[in-house]
Amino acid sequence: MGQPVHQRLNFDSDWKFHLGNAADPHRDFNYGIGNIFAKTGDAANTCIRADFDDRSWEAVQLPHDWVVGLPFQQVANNDVDAHGYHAVGALFPENSIGWYRKSFAVARADSGKRVVLQFDGVFRDSKVWVNNCYIGAHFSGYSGSSYDITDFLHWGGRNTVVVRVDASQYEGWFYEGAGIYRHAWMNIVNNTHLALLGGVFVHSEVKGDQAAVSVETKVDNYHPGAPDASVESYITDREGKRVASGASLVIQQPKLWSPESPYLYRAVVVVRSGGQVVDSQTVRFGIRTITIDKDRGLFLNGKPVKVQGVCCHQDHAGVGSALPDYLQYYRIGLLKEMGVNAYRTSHNPPTPELLDACDSLGMLVLDETRLLNSGAEYGADLEWQILRDRNHASVFMWSIGNEEWVIQQSITGKQIAQHQIQRQQQLDPTRTSTYAANVGNVFRGVNEVIPVRGFNYNLKGLDPYRKEHPDQPIIGTEVASTVSTRGIYETDTVNAYVPDYDSVYPPWASTAEQWWTIAASREWMMGGFAWTGFDYRGEPTPYRWPDINSHFGIMDMCGFPKTVYYYYQSWWTDKDVLHIAPHWNWKGKEGKQIPVWVNTNGDNVELFLNGRSLGRKDMPRNGHLEWMVAYAPGKLEAVAYKKGKKLTAAVETTGEPARVVISPSRTSVNGDGKDAAVFNISVVDKQGREVPDANGLLHFSASGGRIIGVGNGDPSSHEPDKFEGGGWQRHLFNGRCQVIVQSLPTSGDLVLSVAAEGLPAVRSVISTTP
Ligand code: GAL
Repeated sequence: MGQPVHQRLNFDSDWKFHLGNAADPHRDFNYGIGNIFAKTGDAANTCIRADFDDRSWEAVQLPHDWVVGLPFQQVANNDVDAHGYHAVGALFPENSIGWYRKSFAVARADSGKRVVLQFDGVFRDSKVWVNNCYIGAHFSGYSGSSYDITDFLHWGGRNTVVVRVDASQYEGWFYEGAGIYRHAWMNIVNNTHLALLGGVFVHSEVKGDQAAVSVETKVDNYHPGAPDASVESYITDREGKRVASGASLVIQQPKLWSPESPYLYRAVVVVRSGGQVVDSQTVRFGIRTITIDKDRGLFLNGKPVKVQGVCCHQDHAGVGSALPDYLQYYRIGLLKEMGVNAYRTSHNPPTPELLDACDSLGMLVLDETRLLNSGAEYGADLEWQILRDRNHASVFMWSIGNEEWVIQQSITGKQIAQHQIQRQQQLDPTRTSTYAANVGNVFRGVNEVIPVRGFNYNLKGLDPYRKEHPDQPIIGTEVASTVSTRGIYETDTVNAYVPDYDSVYPPWASTAEQWWTIAASREWMMGGFAWTGFDYRGEPTPYRWPDINSHFGIMDMCGFPKTVYYYYQSWWTDKDVLHIAPHWNWKGKEGKQIPVWVNTNGDNVELFLNGRSLGRKDMPRNGHLEWMVAYAPGKLEAVAYKKGKKLTAAVETTGEPARVVISPSRTSVNGDGKDAAVFNISVVDKQGREVPDANGLLHFSASGGRIIGVGNGDPSSHEPDKFEGGGWQRHLFNGRCQVIVQSLPTSGDLVLSVAAEGLPAVRSVISTTP
């Protein structure tokens, strides 16, 4: 077999990395003082030169985020604070330039084809050189970039690509990381090929028990003459069986895509020229109908769906913004478990693997762009985003921006919005857009023209707005912003911890219960997106230093649930949920009153302390129950009845930690050096009960895999997430911590070993499959 007609080669391995310096050209490898833009191919005395000796540079693999490994620094600056106190940005020129170099080969046999380098995300302001020649630049840290490098290559020889990344300028007000933090690819295609961006657009219309699929294609041609090319498409099911072909692509009795049953078909597009196949692309897509009704909200395949959504940022414990693909699936899986059916990519285009995970696992996506700005750069970014993402079954609506308070109520905001909506309609007439407006009953500006009115907070304005604008559908683009610290049940201003109930929120926000009660009781309200599914670095709220990450998560940085998780799970799933907060280890508080919250979707709950009833209460729909309980060690038990079925849950006073328990997220990983597994760690007492307030130090080592990050969800922890030189360790935070391990290109056992002072060492073994 020869090469496939379209080679999409992963370009993540074997990079070299070194920090430069934004303030001193001598420490920036002479960048800025070598006159590199005077002549093509003159890289002067810089590290752009192909023959530069980079042997002392650090070997890295993409995705790579150099910020997650930087120390924390307390600086009196709001943006540093908002980014989580990592020493990056213009105040830290020594940490804000990253240089990447990679040497690669291209086969002589490929000369005559086009070679296109593709970066899915580089934070930010990146410039690219190949073999000493400047290729181009890209500013955004969130949209992808690609470069046709064909003319600059040495066929059959060595080539050098150099990328300079400048993270001096922030884009957001949350942790952003820095570096080539998403995948990179090398595409090798024939001169006549499907456009690499937006070359295939698949959409479908369901009528009765048939779906008519449309495949729109765009072919780019680099041949000097104009050879005749023809395009043919067919559809297969997920097993690869052809289900439709020919001029009209009609599928009989199609399997519809939904969060409950995320069935994906494939469209195969083949381009022929001169009697030969010259390109082919396979695109996964789902058949589903989205309609939005101003009075009854969102419909999927004809059925009403309330948006039970969360907003998320893209970083995770241990790894910053450079997530192995597996973590996307892991996180979406956790959200689904909680009952989430929709994800808002606040406030930027996501990595493509996030959308793949949402397509595969069944999660609707509100795909949001970075800035409300129709100028050349951001206008092109929105177009790029729509062309890249419009085949994803999960994407149900676009968001053209968030809380642009400088322009949102002005004619400027309105004009920009009109232009962006027009772009969206042109490139994807199958969907509509919203805008996340943090104003209540205000119509002027963007809201005058936006097809779906998005409410960020300000829910008092909801009913009056609906009354005055009954023809505009309404969605809660951002709600809640409840703050809590997992496993902490008292206010602690020294450590910057907030109690883990659904009780504390900043002035603009609300509890989970407040917003959900409002959304659930209004048929015309499409539902909403709670801020946020997970804690993220940055935006320490309501406290600042020593707090370095947000408290908004329904789960913490590691994905460990907080109390409010069980509130949502009660009302967003039909699982049997019964949960008691807090834990029952309150040594020294004997006789003191402890607030006890019970979340359940049962009809009523009776609470017992050491067998004695503390009373039975009816559970209000979309509510929770509270008791004040005088603490006595022992067992606090809840008994609930759900339509006659008995549910029980208990918290017990535990003994000291006796044993470490490792829970791997999966039993095997692919031996491709990229796949990963999550190991969640807890400790139990002699009777096997999890100790919820254990905070001891643990040490980790791995064989058959490499640890790439550790975390524990403590929003005030200044412990490193990375120990690249070895010696991995982390304290438990309220009984838990997490180790993320990446596979090696091997097969056999992947072993994580955990040691803790005074406890027996333990190992967890999963397998690596070739
Ligand atoms: C919103 C904003 C989010 C986040 C949140 C915190 O206004 O859109 O990015 O800052 O507040 O509550």
